[in-house]
This record gives sequence, structure tokens and C-alpha cells, in this order.
Amino acid sequence: MATKSKKKATIEIENNEDLQDQPLPVMPTEDEAPEVQIEDLPGVGPATAEKLREAGFDDLLALAVMSAGDLADQAELGEAVATKIIGAAKKMANIGGFVSGDALLERRREVLKLTSKVQSIDDLLGGGFETQALVEVYGAFGSGKTQIGHQLAVNCTLPMDEGGFDGDVFYIDTEDTFRPERITQMARGHGLDPDAVLARIHVARAYNSDHQMLLVDEIKRMSKGLNVKMIIVDSLTSHFRAEYIGRGMLANRQQKLNRHLKDLKQLADINNALVLVTNQVHSKPDAMWGDPTKPIGGHVLAHASTFRLYLRKAKAGRRIARLVDSPNLPDGECVYQVTQEGLRD
Ligand code: GTP
Ligand code: MG
Repeated sequence: MATKSKKKATIEIENNEDLQDQPLPVMPTEDEAPEVQIEDLPGVGPATAEKLREAGFDDLLALAVMSAGDLADQAELGEAVATKIIGAAKKMANIGGFVSGDALLERRREVLKLTSKVQSIDDLLGGGFETQALVEVYGAFGSGKTQIGHQLAVNCTLPMDEGGFDGDVFYIDTEDTFRPERITQMARGHGLDPDAVLARIHVARAYNSDHQMLLVDEIKRMSKGLNVKMIIVDSLTSHFRAEYIGRGMLANRQQKLNRHLKDLKQLADINNALVLVTNQVHSKPDAMWGDPTKPIGGHVLAHASTFRLYLRKAKAGRRIARLVDSPNLPDGECVYQVTQEGLRD
């Protein structure tokens, strides 16, 4: 009985997440100018700042893009106050600049694509997993998220002419599921020397969410002299989910997760690297149709991910990956399998 009621409580919290979760825009990361705090806005004292933070507004850009009515509602402020705050935030926020289309195209030309060595997956992704992107792989327990992480870590070390990046991998392991033995099997599956592959995969176990975030700084420090081409966080959300329980903690959690995602995206941009994060799903008991699961992490993660892949098991040991919400590719699905040698068509 006790277990049953506990489970119900968890589901309730997860549903609240949908209501509470605020879309916080991910700011451009190139310029790391000292940030103006929301307390620096005229008319925002400690009490108002607290209200804003509780509602999930921790930086000026998040405020600058709001409408007065919505902000007043969400932060429980008067509409006149909200109007004033937004006006000031617009003046003081680092809105970012315009870049010409051809400059953007030039930057896009630098994008590399990492092969999964599974034709159906590469086709689904328009040729492979892109650099300068944050790819989120989500799915239920045992759906194969960690297997994808291991496989792409191995593939990242492949030479460029074989669809690899000839690169080094940083692997942040939050669930203690990284297995060098599995890397060895997959390396052999490609005819690679397992020891040479393992030497290029740098693994750290993250003990909590603060540690996980510190490890991103550590990657920046350690990356000198290495050709960093891939960063894996498996799982991105498990510590955050375990540490920030309940409705009251949600705004804090989402702010921290947002910061973490910005740091990761910055690594992807600076190194022309691929960031792969894994994420669990929470059941959505009220779903009437469609797939009765959705990823946790809410809007913050949805906005930060360039590509989202939803994994699930199919019959006869086969797996299905579905591409969700891609900016430039059609949504679609593909089928593959996990074998001892790794992922295969
Ligand atoms: P959680 O982290 O628990 O949420 O799951 P996950 O999505 O990370 O799943 P994971 O990638 O760990 O997938 C585990 C599954 O991969 C197992 O249930 C097996 O079906 C499959 N698998 C793992 N190793 C092997 C292997 O050596 N051979 C084969 N054939 N399958 C394997
Ligand atoms: Mg896993």
C-alpha cells in the first residue's frame, strides 16, 4: 500500500512540472560579458527579484521577451510593475546582434557529421550526428540510450574518411553505466584497436548535479592539446531530477539546468563538437492518444536541443529511433538493432 501511494505522489509532481516549467531562452554563448543581474533593474528590490526567480526568470533576456500580462500572471506582480520591468530589461539585456546570412552559411559549412555506421540512423539524420549541435537522446529504461553513447564515442575516434572525427571524447557518466568492456566490443566491431579507442575517451563520474556542472569547466581546462569532438552526458537529467523534488524546487532546477545546457552548447560551438545528452521519460497517464511518454527536463531542454531522438524497443530485439522536432529535417523513424559488436542495421 505504502509503495502505491508513493508512486502516485511522484506522478503528481511530474504533472506539475508541465504547468510550472517556463521556457527560458538559451542566449548566444559567444560573448561572456559580465552579466547584469535582475536586481540591477530599476525598481526591482530583493522581494521582487525573489518573485521573478521563483517564477523562473533569472536573466534579463528572459524578462525582455515577455509580455506584460504574462509576466504579471506568472510572477504575481501588478501589470504596471511588469511593464516597467520589461521595458528596463529590454534596454539592459544583451539581446545579441544580427549576423548576415552568408556568415551563418559559412559557419554551417564547418559542420561535420558523425556516422552511426547504421545506414537507417544516418539517413534519418540527413547524414549523421552534427557538430555545433546538442543532440538529446531520450527513452525509457533499457531503450538503448547508453548504447548510443558508447557507440558514438567509439565512432568519434574513427578517421574522417570513415565518417568519424578522428577526435577525443569526454564522457560525463552520472549513473555509473559507462563500461570500457562495451567500448572494447564495439571497437573490435569496427576493426579498431580497443586500447587506442579507450585512450581517447575521457570518462568522469559525476556524483551530483553541482559536480556534473563543474566537470564541464574541467573539460574546458583539459581540452588543450586534445581534439575535442564529442561531449556525452549520460544522463543529463538524473541528478537534477533526484535532487530537486517537488513544485517549489522547479524554478531553481530549471535555471540550473539551463545554465548547464548553455555551458555545454558553448563547448560544442568553440570546438566544433557534438554534444550528446541522454534523458529519461516520465509517464503521462492522462495522454489520450499518441505516445504516452514524454521527456523530462521540460521546455528548457526542448529549446536547447537541436535534435531530439526518441528511442524505444520493438519486436524481436529491434529498436526504433524517432527524430522529433528537427530544425531542418522531416520527422521520421528508423529501425536498427543492438548487437554484441554494437549498433547495426
Ligand atoms: P537506462 O539508462 O536504464 O535508462 O537505459 P538505457 O536507455 O541507457 O539502456 P541501455 O543503453 O543501457 O540499453 C540496455 C540494453 O542494450 C540491454 O537491455 C540490451 O538489450 C542491450 N545491450 C547491451 N549490451 C548488449 C550486448 O552486448 N549485446 C546485445 N545484443 N545487446 C546489448
Ligand atoms: Mg543508460
